Amino acid sequence: MAPLTSLVLVSLLAQPFLASPVPDAESDLSARSALPADYQSPPYYPTPPGGWMPDWADAYAKAHAVVSNMTLAEKVNLTTGTGLYMGPCVGQTGSALRFGIPNLCLQDSPLGVRDTDHNTAFPAGITVGATFNKELMYARGVGLGEEARGKGVNVLLGPVVGPLGRKPRGGRIWEGFGADPVLQAVGGAQTIKGMQSTGAIASLKHYIGYEQEMSRMSSVVSVGYSSNIDDRTLHEMYLWPFAEGVRAGVGSLMTSYNDVNGSACSQNSKLLNDILKDELGFQGFVMTDWLGQYAGVASALAGLDVAMPGDGAIPLLGDSYWGSELSRSILNGTVPLNRLNDMVTRIVATWYKFGQDKDYPLPNFSANTADQTGEIYPGALLSPIGVVNQYVNVEGDHNITARAVAREAITLLKNDQNILPFRHNDSLKVFGTDAGPNPNGPNSCSDKGCDSGVLTMGWGSGSANLPYLVTPQEAIGNLSNNAKFYITDTFPSDVVASPTDIAIVFINADSGENYITVDGNPGDRLEAGLNAWHNGDDLVKAAAQKFSNVVVVVHTVGPILMEEWIDLAPVKAVLVAHLPGQEAGWSLTDILFGDYSPSGHMPYSIPRSESDYPESVGLIDQPIGQIQDTFTERLYIDYRHFMNANITPRYPFGHGLSYTTFTFSSPSLSVVTPLDSEYPPARPSKGSTPVYSQKIPAASEVAWSSTHFTRIWRYLYPYLDFPQLITAADTYQYPDGYTTQPKPAPRAGGAQGGNPALFDTAFSVQVQVENTGSRHGKAVAQLYVALPSSLGLDTPPLQLRQFEKTKDLAPGQSEILTLDITRKDLSVWDVVVQDWKAPVNGEGVNIWVGQSVEDLAVICEVGGKCSMA
Ligand SMILES: *[C@@H]1O[C@H](CO)[C@@H](O)[C@H](O)[C@H]1NC(C)=O
Ligand SMILES: *[C@@H]1O[C@H](CO)[C@@H](O)[C@H](O)[C@H]1NC(C)=O
Ligand SMILES: *[C@@H]1O[C@H](CO)[C@@H](O)[C@H](O)[C@H]1NC(C)=O
Ligand SMILES: *[C@@H]1O[C@H](CO)[C@@H](O)[C@H](O)[C@H]1NC(C)=O
Ligand SMILES: *[C@@H]1O[C@H](CO)[C@@H](O)[C@H](O)[C@H]1NC(C)=O
Ligand SMILES: *[C@@H]1O[C@H](CO)[C@@H](O)[C@H](O)[C@H]1NC(C)=O
Ligand SMILES: *[C@@H]1O[C@H](CO)[C@@H](O)[C@H](O)[C@H]1NC(C)=O
Ligand SMILES: *[C@@H]1O[C@H](CO)[C@@H](O)[C@H](O)[C@H]1NC(C)=O
Repeated sequence: MAPLTSLVLVSLLAQPFLASPVPDAESDLSARSALPADYQSPPYYPTPPGGWMPDWADAYAKAHAVVSNMTLAEKVNLTTGTGLYMGPCVGQTGSALRFGIPNLCLQDSPLGVRDTDHNTAFPAGITVGATFNKELMYARGVGLGEEARGKGVNVLLGPVVGPLGRKPRGGRIWEGFGADPVLQAVGGAQTIKGMQSTGAIASLKHYIGYEQEMSRMSSVVSVGYSSNIDDRTLHEMYLWPFAEGVRAGVGSLMTSYNDVNGSACSQNSKLLNDILKDELGFQGFVMTDWLGQYAGVASALAGLDVAMPGDGAIPLLGDSYWGSELSRSILNGTVPLNRLNDMVTRIVATWYKFGQDKDYPLPNFSANTADQTGEIYPGALLSPIGVVNQYVNVEGDHNITARAVAREAITLLKNDQNILPFRHNDSLKVFGTDAGPNPNGPNSCSDKGCDSGVLTMGWGSGSANLPYLVTPQEAIGNLSNNAKFYITDTFPSDVVASPTDIAIVFINADSGENYITVDGNPGDRLEAGLNAWHNGDDLVKAAAQKFSNVVVVVHTVGPILMEEWIDLAPVKAVLVAHLPGQEAGWSLTDILFGDYSPSGHMPYSIPRSESDYPESVGLIDQPIGQIQDTFTERLYIDYRHFMNANITPRYPFGHGLSYTTFTFSSPSLSVVTPLDSEYPPARPSKGSTPVYSQKIPAASEVAWSSTHFTRIWRYLYPYLDFPQLITAADTYQYPDGYTTQPKPAPRAGGAQGGNPALFDTAFSVQVQVENTGSRHGKAVAQLYVALPSSLGLDTPPLQLRQFEKTKDLAPGQSEILTLDITRKDLSVWDVVVQDWKAPVNGEGVNIWVGQSVEDLAVICEVGGKCSMA
């Protein structure tokens, strides 16, 4: 047994959060620390089966025909990953080849196919959010989907709409689209529609309340933190983008590692059975995050459909909470057969829905190695060897979209004396390692776990290999005939500055996922705080001492403090280039040299001080016991908080200048669907769902003795030795509130995303946007609502509900933008009635339109007129 012992050791070293033997699979999560008073996660059983939505009916009918004929082994196969490193992708299900269903390949990331080659490294989510451009959001989604398909990836693990950006230091906020539920919702939904138009299945993640990296996971020795979120805050903030993703038809969803209200998200029946599958009417399948499954029967009953990568409490041992144990729990009668049938039907229906039964490629790459040949199952220790990488180029012309997104995201915060754009003969002195390459190569740090050279993305599973990287240094060097580079973060003492010189100082701030620590930052920006890395503040200050013209370029994962230098007279301009991906250089020079005007807008606020945030959104680092992360700030994050607390940030949410100027005029508002009642009209009733035989299958269907293939050591299978001997040992201790009696359909539901009447356009606002400056450019109109106090609830002063971007407008040209707002946009979540409540006829609602949350030129009083503010 020596190899086994050493593998345990290896896996323990690789997974420091695991250090004791496998506990009883069902009991390890029972001992939760005390929650704050009043927080609890009520039980909600059984899982509502999928299949009742008309636009999924065909897919479910096909799935029903197939699943009816499946054996228990085939069914269990599709629900459970084959194990860590047990196939080409970061995760794969078992197969059901009798029906043409292969091992489904699940692969990161939200910005490109991870762990491979000849892929595009698109700009990160936060960059996409900063474009405020719905078409580009969609186009990037199409590119992602095409590349996933080309590599044989069935499910691409993105987009990210949780974290929402509640914690400015949170490690993964750059994977999502910005600190606002509507910006997240639009970014997520457009990405999903684009991706899934290619046949690739999106996986919307991480559900839900996953706002910091540290202490996120539960294991045999640790308990992940509990995000304690009240019902209204959940609905109006954190759930909003998930609801829009479901409405966009997302095929799968990934749970997060943390608890909500003391119940782990991968087995929280309130979140999965009630909110997701009943209220939001989700028709696809729910998977865990990697090693985020913490129990077998409990997760099945709570609404989980797919276990990823399939491993049990200690990975790589060949144990699973599901797999053969799920087979056992069916045979012993503990998990109802119709729950398993629903899991499998959801998976197979999604596969049909996106046409993956027709000519969908098999994986032609390996996430485990870049070599052409290698182990097919590296997790098995002894694995067959074969060709694992075909190096298929899937880039197409996606560099065009990648560059357009990176360019349109670039946000001009200030531009004194119109120092930007540069002329090609301006004398430029460029400072900072963030302008240059990573000296060891663009992909030299695994999963981007270092901050070296221009920052193109954060680190962790949300990264992808750069197929190439044009740095700012290269791009500026190409376009300027008068640039000198000082690729160092220490200001050189021998620099000579002439009065006409312009210094460009590149600084950055990085963060990532918890399994990698960079410069003392365990994912979250624990050490770095909100300051620039590598003493970036000092570099800017030193340049400002020597040069009378300084332009600062910032690559950052999220909010960054600028107070040390922003008001220095020489600091004339600041550009936030976010996380541009492979097109870092050319997208920046497109703006620096004036080929395009900047048109990005901040997807979060830039604060003056970290202490301006509510205390409750700080990181929580606590060695012992479960962290109780209670969302006491409720709806008040980012600009909602700053406005409510009367704090003026350095740059407000939505801020972004251009080289030209825009004037808004002729606003008008029209009623589209009258809001003639407080609550939406009654929901449609549910359609029927597939019906299957209730007969417990023959034990022989999962007997090892019935198989005729070579078993791979530690691979996860649905099979058991002597399954005929299985009996119900004791009575199973079901969770409190467990029942198989279906619940009445919740009134807030009725279709994907919720009651369809919530999404009727209530009002439509039109505004004319004119380019009144002297250069081409695109403007963004942001629509915020102020809800009346007559709703009886404390509500943020302004909330983004819609935005549109103009086409490229020539000087003097104008465009009329139409901004639609729905019933839901004007509603609050009524926790008593459990429904969305709007002011009748929109009475008392004010609608504001402008170019940032603090620059609102237009006001419309619903029922009254629009005017220029
Ligand atoms: C968490 O607890 C709060 C406070 O009781 C409650 O409003 C909310 O619905 C609970 N959420 C979940 C998912 O259990
Ligand atoms: C299922 O089995 C029935 C009877 O054995 C057969 O007629 C039918 O074609 C099968 N359906 C599928 C989708 O395999
Ligand atoms: C289950 O999946 C594995 C591959 O992951 C395959 O070898 C096996 O044949 C499948 N079982 C059935 C019954 O299809
Ligand atoms: C049935 O099997 C499951 C999976 O091993 C186990 O968790 C459960 O306790 C068993 N139920 C009974 C009644 O033996
Ligand atoms: C690999 O990619 C090519 C091109 O996209 C595709 O035709 C093929 O089916 C894929 N899979 C395999 C196993 O070759
Ligand atoms: C995209 O790549 C192609 C081929 O490498 C190149 O010709 C083209 O100029 C690139 N486009 C952009 C916008 O960078
Ligand atoms: C740069 O070029 C412009 C004309 O394009 C000229 O007016 C200006 O003097 C030049 N500046 C320098 C520093 O050579
Ligand atoms: C200009 O770009 C080309 C192609 O990207 C590159 O090979 C060359 O080194 C660049 N020139 C400078 C001066 O950076």
